[in-house]
This record gives sequence, C-alpha cells and structure tokens, in this order.
Amino acid sequence: MLPPLVEDNPKYLVELEHVDKHFGNLHVLKDINLRVKKGEVLVIVGPSGSGKSTMCRTINRLETIDSGVIRIDGQTLPQEGKELAQLRAEVGMVFQSFNLFANKTILDNVTLAPIKVRGMDKTQAEREAMDLLSRVGVASQASKMPSQLSGGQQQRVAIARALAMHPKVMLFDEPTSALDPEMVNEVLDVMVELAREGMTMLCVTHEMGFARKAADRIVFMADGQILEQDTPEGFFEHPKTERAQDFLSKILTH
Ligand SMILES: Nc1ncnc2c1ncn2[C@@H]1O[C@H](COP(=O)(O)OP(=O)(O)O)[C@@H](O)[C@H]1O
Ligand SMILES: [Mg+2]
Repeated sequence: MLPPLVEDNPKYLVELEHVDKHFGNLHVLKDINLRVKKGEVLVIVGPSGSGKSTMCRTINRLETIDSGVIRIDGQTLPQEGKELAQLRAEVGMVFQSFNLFANKTILDNVTLAPIKVRGMDKTQAEREAMDLLSRVGVASQASKMPSQLSGGQQQRVAIARALAMHPKVMLFDEPTSALDPEMVNEVLDVMVELAREGMTMLCVTHEMGFARKAADRIVFMADGQILEQDTPEGFFEHPKTERAQDFLSKILTH
C-alpha cells in the first residue's frame, strides 16, 4: 500500500491509488496507480480503447470509480455535493470537441463559470477573461460567437475558459484530434507555453513532437493498465514492453 499523505502538505497534486473501474463486464481501469507532482507535465499515450479518456474523466469525477482513491492536492474526491463541485473546479479540462456554448459570445464563454461558480464580479471576470484570451491569441474575437471562429481558435478559447477558473491542474483529452492539420500547432503552442509557465498538466495526445518537447513523463496505457512510465527519451528510445514497442512502431512509421 502507498503511504497516506499529510493533508496540509501534499507532495502530489494528483494521486490515483488502486483505482478500478468497470463498464458492465468491461474492466476499463485496472489497479491504476499514478502520482503527479506540482508543475509536472504528463503525456498519456496508448492504443484506442485503453482507458485514457476514462482515466481523465475519473480525475474530475465525470466518471465514478468502483474502488481505489483519487486525491487532488491531498484531498480525496468526495462522492457528490458542494465539496465535489469545488474540487472539480480545481481541475480544468479540455476535450477533443470544443464544447463552447454555441449561443454565447467568446467573452461570455470565458466569464460564465468564474461569475456563476466562483462568484467573481463581472468587471473583474471580464478583465481576467480578456487577459486569458490575449494569452491564447484570440482577444480580437471576444465579441464573436463560437461558430464564427476556426476550430483552432475555438480550442484556444476552450483552454482560456478552463484557465479562467484558476485550476490547479489541467487535463487535455486529445485536444488537437478534431482539428484541421494546419491548426494543430497553434493549440500545441499554447499548451507548450502553459507547461513552461509551470502548469501541472495531464495530456492525452498522439502528438509525439509535443510529447518530446513538453512532457516530463510519458505514461503508456494498454487494456486499462499503466504498462510503462518513463521520460520521453526513455520511452521513445527504449520502450520496455512489447505492447509499447508495437504501439510506437505503428505511430512512428507514419
Ligand atoms: N460510457 C461508457 N460505457 C461503456 N463503455 C465505455 C464507456 N466509455 C468508454 N467505454 C469503453 O471503455 C474502454 C476505454 O475507453 P476510453 O477510456 O474512451 O479509451 P481511450 O480514451 O484510451 O480510447 C473502451 O472499450 C470503450 O469502448
Ligand atoms: Mg479517448
């Protein structure tokens, strides 16, 4: 067993201990153990269906777990209620599909949660939102509707929207997979910048250039298990398991 943490001095921002989950008969997460330090950038790779998205979704409780423990900044994720909403707000998430509110302006998309969930006043929320939109390079689009933006711009807004909640950790689940190729880099650049600024990040992505550039650690999943964890160099140059060797040979030869 892993030793319990001292509540007020957590060394890890995200911890999963012995996490198991089934979807019916399907054992989708098998004894997952993962610890992420503050400022660490993890890239999670693995074949489709290996449980990467499910693992991310359990971290901000979009999915329940059957057994095990998940802690965010030393606090165990509660089952439900106000505490859960608060802990969830500390975990920003960006998905493959942009999930912006289609009937709200870009600015309103970013200010909505800080005003509603954090109780921030509108002027301050808008000031912060404009700063964030500048950081991701779309400040000039603030008054537009999501449909007027390109996919790459929308995904950068989705990142700004998540950052507006001042999350302690950001989860990215294939944030560039739905984008036209010419828009992939503008989103990855924002992610690289965030990583450089010290954001704690868990990123599911097939972008191996990003993984090599930004990741502190690569986590390889297959069949609901974490099979390998290593530095990018260690993982890409010397994958240990046959599953990882097979996976890498498939993605790197294209
Ligand atoms: N809501 C769900 N209900 C039933 N099965 C699911 C659900 N979500 C995912 N699965 C299954 O769980 C497995 C892992 O899925 P997922 O976490 O999406 O994998 P990955 O992100 O690595 O591709 C897959 O076999 C998938 O079909
Ligand atoms: Mg997935």
